[in-house]
Amino acid sequence: MAIERVGVIGGGLMGSGIAEVCARSGSDVVVHEIDTAAAEAALGRIEASLAKAVDRGKLDSLQRDEIFARISVVTELDRQSDRQLIIEAATENEDLKRQVFSSVDQVAPEETILASNTSSIPITRLAAATGRPDKVVGLHFFNPVPVMALVELVTTVKTADETATTVRAYAESLGKTVILAKDRAGFVVNMLLVPYMLAAIRMYEAGVASAEDIDTGMRLGANHPMGPLELTDFVGLDTTKFVADVLFEEFKEPFYASPPLLTRMVEAGLHGRKTGVGFYKY
Ligand code: 3HC
Repeated sequence: MAIERVGVIGGGLMGSGIAEVCARSGSDVVVHEIDTAAAEAALGRIEASLAKAVDRGKLDSLQRDEIFARISVVTELDRQSDRQLIIEAATENEDLKRQVFSSVDQVAPEETILASNTSSIPITRLAAATGRPDKVVGLHFFNPVPVMALVELVTTVKTADETATTVRAYAESLGKTVILAKDRAGFVVNMLLVPYMLAAIRMYEAGVASAEDIDTGMRLGANHPMGPLELTDFVGLDTTKFVADVLFEEFKEPFYASPPLLTRMVEAGLHGRKTGVGFYKY
């Protein structure tokens, strides 16, 4: 089955990026948001990202208009009823995501494939909320979605081979490189990346070096595009802590435990770039 009609549940940072890359590759995209204010914000994010792509010479204005015209942002879930692939990109909260999978399962045709962009939650638990676990996969994009080349494809013990083949071909048609991961919390990348970010927070908390020096160290000493604290601000401290907690619950290894400083900053609402303050001010 060639995928032409895609649904995206949630138009936040990740969902709007996913909608954009799907529309860029020619798909018709319907994004679901919870209310009109959230829908407008999602459209604004997509517009701003497309404008940036035009500024950087990646698209011309005609292409931008064509891509934008392929995206609708709606608040009625039944608008997903003609989609061939639905990608859930709701807030990283297991109960919420299970609820989304259960509701989408009711409205989508039985052949529709359901994917989750979760960073860490086992896909098997989300698939169990549906009547079609053979058609459920993880499809994990990276932020910023239009720029990052990787997608993790996560299959469960119940995913049909045909489902995985179809989704892999679609992700590759978006220009992404696909890696396969088993259904364990954190998959491949976050299992390696998150303990590194937590180690940098512990180092900063212990006063070994300033935030700037830790970040400069990894930018210039290891050629990373961002240092670990900058990256935590970019990903969001709340999301980082959520992923760490899921990893800790799954593996009980101390290096996945949230450092007290991260927990306190999240409790204080210092979530990084999206709130204007994290390890740095924006
Ligand atoms: N559309 C298309 N291309 C775009 C674009 C857009 N909206 N915005 C930027 N670009 C392109 C630029 O043209 C440029 O391409 P070029 O190299 O061919 O000229 C490239 O993207 C870089 O853009 P910028 O020059 O604007 O930005 P920087 O060079 O400052 O890089 C960055 C910004 C890409 C964010 C870089 O700092 C980076 O790679 N940081 C690390 C990001 C990262 O690690 N993300 C993963 C986070 S973990 C995650 O997402 C998992 C989750 O589960 C937690």
